[in-house]
Parts: sequence; C-alpha cells; structure tokens
Amino acid sequence: MKTQPIGIFDSGIGGLTVLKELKKILPNEQLIYFGDTARIPYGTKSKELVQQYALEDAAFLLQYNVKMVVVACNTASAMAIDVLKERLDIPVVGVVIPGAKGAVRDTANKKIGVIGTSATVNSNAYSKAIKQISTTETEVISKACPLLVPVVEEGWLDEQATYLILQKYLKDVLQENIDTLILGCTHYPLLQDAIRKVTGPSVKLIDSGSETAEFVKNILAEKNLLNDLARMGEDQFFVSDIPQKFEEIGSRFLGEPLRNVQRIDFDKFLITHQKLF
Ligand code: DGL
Repeated sequence: MKTQPIGIFDSGIGGLTVLKELKKILPNEQLIYFGDTARIPYGTKSKELVQQYALEDAAFLLQYNVKMVVVACNTASAMAIDVLKERLDIPVVGVVIPGAKGAVRDTANKKIGVIGTSATVNSNAYSKAIKQISTTETEVISKACPLLVPVVEEGWLDEQATYLILQKYLKDVLQENIDTLILGCTHYPLLQDAIRKVTGPSVKLIDSGSETAEFVKNILAEKNLLNDLARMGEDQFFVSDIPQKFEEIGSRFLGEPLRNVQRIDFDKFLITHQKLF
C-alpha cells in the first residue's frame, strides 16, 4: 500500500496549487493528477451534477491503484465529500476542513472571510466547518467570486483587469474588518500576490493547498501509509480536454516544466467503466 500513488482531482488547473504543496512536503509520494478541463467549471453547477462528476473523477484515479484520493477542488469538497467517503474504500481528503482549521487557528479577532465559487459559497460548507471547529463565537463573511476562475485559467495573474475585479469582489468583505481570508477555491492561490495587494498585509491569507498537504501527511502517517520506501515513478498528469494551456500555465505555476500532460477520452472512460461509480 505504502508505495501506491496518491490520486488528486480538480475541475481544471487550479488543483495544481494543492499538488505543489503535496510535492513540497511529501517528496517520496507519487502523484496522479486528473484535471477535468472538459467540464470545468464545477462552481456554477448543481450539487447532483458535482457529486456525479466527483464520483467519476475519483473512479478515473482508482484505475491507478491510488492509496488515497485528495479532492483538490473546493466545490467538489464542499458538495461531494460525504458521498465520496461513503463510496470509496480508501481515505478521501477534501480541502474544506483543512482550510477552515487553518483559519480558526490564525484569526485573532474572530472575523473570517471566505471567497470561493458560487457553489462553494452557497453550500455554506466553510462556515459550517468553521462553526464546528471554533470554540468561540466566530463571524464568517463569504463572497462568491465567479469571475476569478476564468481569469486564472486565462493566465491573467497580474493584469489591471484582475485588480479591478478583485477590488470589486473584496470591498464588502474587507469592510467587515476580517483579519483572515480563506482562499476557498483551488484557483485563488495562483492570484495570491494580487489578492495580497488588494487586502493589504494585515489580512492573513489561508491557502487551503498548504493546509491540505499537512492534513494529508498526518492522515497518511496515522494510517501507516507514508511512503518511506523508494518512489515508484514519476508524477502523472491527465486532463479531459486540451492539455496545452494546462502545460503552459502549470509550468509557470509549478516553476518546472510540465510536459506530457495526457488528454484522455473521458466519455469513452465513462462508458467502459460504468460499474466503478
Ligand atoms: N476547482 C474549483 C474550486 O475549487 C474552481 C473551478 C470550478 O468552478 O470548477 O471550487
């Protein structure tokens, strides 16, 4: 079990923010990444559809005999984590609980902001998690920022238009005097520098990617699944549509060339593997 890879999925490129953190603290682990670029965005879709997609994405990863599934996508974590845990017989880790824990740990004034897709914000998954974890009364101010995903997918990480959009979205949240802001969407850590310029240095940004990586490490250790032996192979990247943009932005983001991203025919996979989900 220990040498088996870890599977990670997201609706697109954003999950690389989680993968990057996993690589940093778990260099021995082989990672298999699936980005569902053909069906992105998830953040505008219904709970039923996101649950179905999440089960299908996980089923794709199971083919690689993964020892754990990391749901890098916030929307899928917010809407489908229970159903995934119920259906898979390996550990499943989402990003919502680790992100909420990080925010509760770091807030001093007990005012936490959450930004995410419309689906994540409407699900209230972060505020529910924060209220469960926090031992004191904590206010949660949430804001859906649906334009930010296309901005990141477009690679506009430091454009004037990006700052205008961020200022508009963050205005109300910042007015509430939050001291901590959860970047509740895989794509937002790519905008971390731009977001920091808008929030100023006094607001602590919670990157669910790094929080999740720590969480994954702890769970693997607890279950005696950490790979303390030799690494089995290279990380592998799959997408359900056009790999070029994924490779281009992904390389820039990971700081190393991302080649050989494979496009898979997901429709064909779904037809031939129906029994898996
Ligand atoms: N991966 C999604 C999330 O973290 C953002 C992109 C989408 O809407 O699918 O919520």
